[in-house]
Amino acid sequence: MKKEAKPAFLYGVSVGGDNFTDRVRETRRLKMNFENGLNVILISPRRMGKTSLVKHVAQEVDKEIVQTVYMDIYDCRSEYDFYNKFAEAIMMQTGSKIEHTLDNIRQFLTRISPKLSINPDPSTEYSISLGITPKEYSPEEILSLPERMANHIGKHIVVCIDEFQQVGEWPDSLLVQKRMRGVWQHHTHASYCLFGSRQHMMNQLFQNKRMPFYQFGEPNYLQPIPTEDWIPFIQSKFEKKDLTISDTYVRQICDIVGNQSSYVQQLSWDVMLNTEKTVDDEALEAGINDLLMQCTPLFMEQTGGLTSYQLNLLRAIVDGQHTQWTSQEVLSKYGLGTKSNVAKMQKVMLERDFIVSTEQGLFLADPVMKLWLQHR
Ligand SMILES: Nc1ncnc2c1ncn2[C@@H]1O[C@H](COP(=O)(O)OP(=O)(O)O)[C@@H](O)[C@H]1O
Ligand SMILES: [Mg+2]
Repeated sequence: MKKEAKPAFLYGVSVGGDNFTDRVRETRRLKMNFENGLNVILISPRRMGKTSLVKHVAQEVDKEIVQTVYMDIYDCRSEYDFYNKFAEAIMMQTGSKIEHTLDNIRQFLTRISPKLSINPDPSTEYSISLGITPKEYSPEEILSLPERMANHIGKHIVVCIDEFQQVGEWPDSLLVQKRMRGVWQHHTHASYCLFGSRQHMMNQLFQNKRMPFYQFGEPNYLQPIPTEDWIPFIQSKFEKKDLTISDTYVRQICDIVGNQSSYVQQLSWDVMLNTEKTVDDEALEAGINDLLMQCTPLFMEQTGGLTSYQLNLLRAIVDGQHTQWTSQEVLSKYGLGTKSNVAKMQKVMLERDFIVSTEQGLFLADPVMKLWLQHR
């Protein structure tokens, strides 16, 4: 079999092509929503595959009727930061050529003069900076661009906004959310796919009755890719390198990282690098050690600022304690302080996405952090 020079596994960036597996049901559903103009909210922990999925769907939609516009607002720090990114993405992605884009800007954003820069990066070719301030355009005028552009190009526009939870961090966040919803809910030729990690913040924005975005769109919680789908994917990657891995070991890899997509690929890669011919216990063990080593600097940083009470809470959870947080025995066994202390601490740890709360109690959000704490 021919060997390839490209890496067998890819993690930490959004993936497509033959690095993208499964998600057949999710793709179909999102595609239908996009083509039928339904708003979508997509939530999952980090690195589960939201960005990859949305980009995949954007490729799959019927381009005769739908134009998708993708933007990542992770680095937007304020309302007008966002409006600039928003308008730039819409203008750049609805014009098929640079001339179209500039024409559209002249027609729809007459009060500003755009700055054009040619990128050395061939994938984007050029970028445009609009420099919109409240003097030139009101929030409502910018927020209504998708609907107006949709009418202009004669297609439905789906605006996909990645890392949407950032909205919750801005000054006057609530007011901005009201403005957004106020304008977008009247759009009939534009719809919105709002997605993000930071589960706590996303739930706060979308699942709270008092918040403007409550019931704005169809909520989707992206689930992990099932082990059964990882088995053929991972086995074929090993085969391409003349190596083999049995079902059992793929299952173990998936279990260890709680099927979290990025970690599945990362651990598979670490195991592959430790495999001579066929994956065995030693290769798996060595792969896990490599993974833990790679994660150590990040986990040290993340846990470095925690109080000893907070660390004790994590240790208790890692030790298998998920409920009974008011029991005196549990409190003293793990050194958690008073009942009210624990309640406050849990709130903070939930807000910071260290832990998640399920029907079965509290769990660590990051399965590899759990393993790392166990090893210490
Ligand atoms: N459908 C998929 N098939 C295979 N691997 C995936 C898939 N989706 C995500 N991954 C893995 O997870 C990593 C993170 O994906 P990404 O889309 O960036 O997640 P998110 O946007 O939820 O943080 C990717 O680099 C890849 O390793
Ligand atoms: Mg992402």
